Amino acid sequence: MKTNLKGRDFISIMDFDKEELETIFEIAFDLKRRHAMREPHEILKGRNLGMLFASPSTRTRMSFESGIAQLGGKGQFYSPEQLQLKNKESWRDTAEMISRFLDGFMIRLYNLKTQMGTDTYDYGDARNVIRAIAEYATIPVYNALDDKEHPCQIMADIMTMREKFGENYKKKKVVMGWAYDERAKSAGVPQTMAVAAGILGMDLVLAYPDVPGCYDIDPEYYNYAVEQAKINGGSITVEHDIWKACKDADVIYCKSWAREPDKHAELSGQFKKDWCISHKHFEKANNNAAYMHCLPAKRGQEVTNELIDDPKISIVNDEAENRLHVQKAIMALTMR
Ligand code: CP
Repeated sequence: MKTNLKGRDFISIMDFDKEELETIFEIAFDLKRRHAMREPHEILKGRNLGMLFASPSTRTRMSFESGIAQLGGKGQFYSPEQLQLKNKESWRDTAEMISRFLDGFMIRLYNLKTQMGTDTYDYGDARNVIRAIAEYATIPVYNALDDKEHPCQIMADIMTMREKFGENYKKKKVVMGWAYDERAKSAGVPQTMAVAAGILGMDLVLAYPDVPGCYDIDPEYYNYAVEQAKINGGSITVEHDIWKACKDADVIYCKSWAREPDKHAELSGQFKKDWCISHKHFEKANNNAAYMHCLPAKRGQEVTNELIDDPKISIVNDEAENRLHVQKAIMALTMR
């Protein structure tokens, strides 16, 4: 175990190596057990976590706020409109200030144009802001979804696969696939899953319709994932036929994303029929295969009601719960 993570930010999975990610899982399982047994674990007594949400959240807010409370600390929730950011105080001044009051800072920021009222927005701008905050803050900064990644989500997802399949999870066929939704959503989940799978040595199939530039993931993430998979004994492959992808799958984790909203608006409708995940997809999969989704899911578009509500297949609420335990582990390991 590599436990010396004090002071580290949790912004990108690519900032961590295999042993460090494994350490976070070990601690998360320990904290989950302690919570279940009602054993006190106020590891962060008296610490304060700032939580800045520039867009709505159910799971992330509840899990971080409950998590810091269970560790003996307190969470402070704000939206940008409630801070002087609304009056255009700089991110740098904000970052320097938060270190004087807080012990950790969680931020969700993924579309600056709509969320922060900026005139222009390019992919990567939100990440640049989070990196800048981390540079000027002296406390750990946690990425709760930006335009490139959703690292806390993916840690919870992989923790859930470990629970279901044990250490054998790395030998299982995991399909991280696209699903239909009229709304164009961030590619943060598949991009983070790809690099995490590469670092951990998992067998991952990325499945999405063949619309170049729209559904393929950022090449920076794809290339890093493939390179890491070679080093760590895993594999990252791409499949454009969802039915073929589901054959012999152990996990089918499909959600909507789009890197080009205009192309998505024009073309996505033609994929609706095949890419709404249902029990038919699971007829191709292995026995005991699981359905996963980070939630919120668009019922009737990304997934059928019957599948997401099927307790024998759907483990979406276990994934959501594990956000709590894995984020507690990240905070406990990194906060001073
Ligand atoms: N999965 C996830 O991040 O959910 P929320 O948007 O509800 O936080």
